[in-house]
Parts: sequence; structure tokens; C-alpha cells
Amino acid sequence: MGQGGGMTVAARAITPSTTGTHPEIIEPIRLGGLLDLPPLADGAGPGGRDVRIWSLDTTTVGTTELDEARPWFDPEEQEQASSYVRAELRQAYEVAHAAARRVIGAVTDQDPAAITWGRHDCPGCGEPHGRPRVEGADVEFSLAHTPGLVLVAVSEHQVGVDVERYPDPADLPGLLGILHADEVAEVEQAEEPEDAVRRFTRAWTRTEAYLKGVGIGLGRDPQTDYLGTAAIPEREIEGWLVRDVRVPDGFGAAVATHPR
Ligand SMILES: CC(C)(COP(=O)(O)OP(=O)(O)OC[C@H]1O[C@@H](n2cnc3c(N)ncnc32)[C@H](O)[C@@H]1OP(=O)(O)O)[C@@H](O)C(=O)NCCC(=O)NCCS
Repeated sequence: MGQGGGMTVAARAITPSTTGTHPEIIEPIRLGGLLDLPPLADGAGPGGRDVRIWSLDTTTVGTTELDEARPWFDPEEQEQASSYVRAELRQAYEVAHAAARRVIGAVTDQDPAAITWGRHDCPGCGEPHGRPRVEGADVEFSLAHTPGLVLVAVSEHQVGVDVERYPDPADLPGLLGILHADEVAEVEQAEEPEDAVRRFTRAWTRTEAYLKGVGIGLGRDPQTDYLGTAAIPEREIEGWLVRDVRVPDGFGAAVATHPR
């Protein structure tokens, strides 16, 4: 079933956005690789004025390129990278961290290797494992990685971004329990498996983007918040603006921002 016509799912009331702009899916700025200076402004869509998102297809990053970027990593990144058993997860992690160093280095006028990562305090427990930050730079950012795609978001606002690959429809019943009960119902009422997968991924990426922006991550039960499964690219929750991000077929992504 296409997105819209013939839909059997009842639309739940969603707080309309108060941005005054037409809801738009945010268009990321595409990175061609890790070594060239990234484009800083091109590609931001009408809905993306207050947040810039860079995307990178991890399959286009070659071994030589990654070898040149690895010396940028700090000991914690080196240790984390080598802890991955699956090569595709390690590659996505390394590409994400190299891309984040490249983009945030360009935004803050620093060499990628000179960036020192830190963490904000977790709003749940006060321990320093909340959202990531850059020591000595006033920049808000978030990163997300999955095999095949990396996103780096930078904003003047507190921000969270998430990207996920569509799950196999056969795995959906086992995954649905992580969503809000109303989102589960919407996914279950989808007429086609492809639509169910799209709906699941929308709700999940919106929820994760929101919880990463807040900084608590999955320390807050993702069943708590209703972000919805419908193809409505913009909604508000608790003062956060949550928007969908355009990514290649087979992936879903969302970004959440909150004025500081
Ligand atoms: C944050 C979290 C949702 C990431 O989910 P994921 O799907 O595994 O990974 P993603 O690719 O989407 O995002 C990873 C990035 O999120 C960022 N991140 C980690 N913790 C974060 C937090 N609390 N808030 C915001 N961003 C966070 C990091 O930059 C991380 O990158 P890295 O793993 O390469 O260092 C998940 O790891 C989490 O919830 N962690 C906290 C769990 C918890 O229970 N904490 C205790 C609270 S008291």
C-alpha cells in the first residue's frame, strides 16, 4: 500500500508544529568521503534551517580512506572500534566517528584530530554518560550509525538524530514491544508488510532521536512516548520538534531539536 490512500490506520491527534513553516522532510547534505572538506551549507531543505545533517553511505568509504582517518581517533574510540565483532558494525562506527570529526572540525574550525569528545550529564541519573559534546566548543551535535549509513547532525539547538535500516518483516512481531501501545496498533493495522516496516521504523527513529536529544537515550522506556507511525514529517512533543530525514530506500531517520 502507498503512503496515504486506502490507509486503514486511524490518525491519532498529533500536536501541530508551531514553526510556521510547512512540514518538510529534512534533506541531508551528502558527504562524498572523509578526507575532503565537507560542504557546510548546501542541501539543507526548507524544514532544515535550524539544523544541518550530513549523511554518508558507508559502503563508499574505502579501506585506504579509513586508514588515513584512523589516526584522528582517541584511545576510547580505538578501543570501542576494536570491540566490535561484526566487521560491518565496526566500519559503521569508524566511519561515523571520522565523519563527525570531519564535520564538527569544519564547523568549529578545528583539525579533526584536535577534537576532544566529552559527555553531558545524563538527565536521568546525573552521571556523565548523557549526550556527547565537544570540549571547549559551543556546538550541539548528534550522531547515528548503522551498517550502510551514517548521519551527523549539528544545530544551534539541543539535538538528537537517529537512523535505522528497515527490519525484516518477519522480525517485526518480536520488535514491536519497544513501541508505544498506540504505535503498535498502527503498525499491526498496516495492510502490507512493507508499510508495517516503514511505520515501525518511523516510530522507532522518531523516538530514539527524541530520547538522544533529551540525552537519556533508552534509559527512558521507549514505550512511554507516542511519536506516531504515519507519514507526517513533523510533530511536537514536550517542546521538542521531531522531523523525519530523507535517507535512501531501506532506511528510516529522524531528528529532534529543542531550543536551548
Ligand atoms: C544512545 C542510544 C539510544 C544509542 O542507540 P544506538 O541505536 O545503539 O546507536 P546510534 O547509532 O543511534 O547512536 C550512537 C551514538 O549516540 C550517542 N549517544 C550515546 N549515549 C547518548 C545519550 N545518552 N544521549 C544522546 N546521545 C547519546 C553517541 O554519540 C553514540 O555514538 P557512539 O556509540 O559511536 O559513541 C543507546 O546507546 C542508549 O540508550 N544508551 C544509554 C542507555 C542507558 O540505559 N543509559 C543509562 C541511563 S541512567
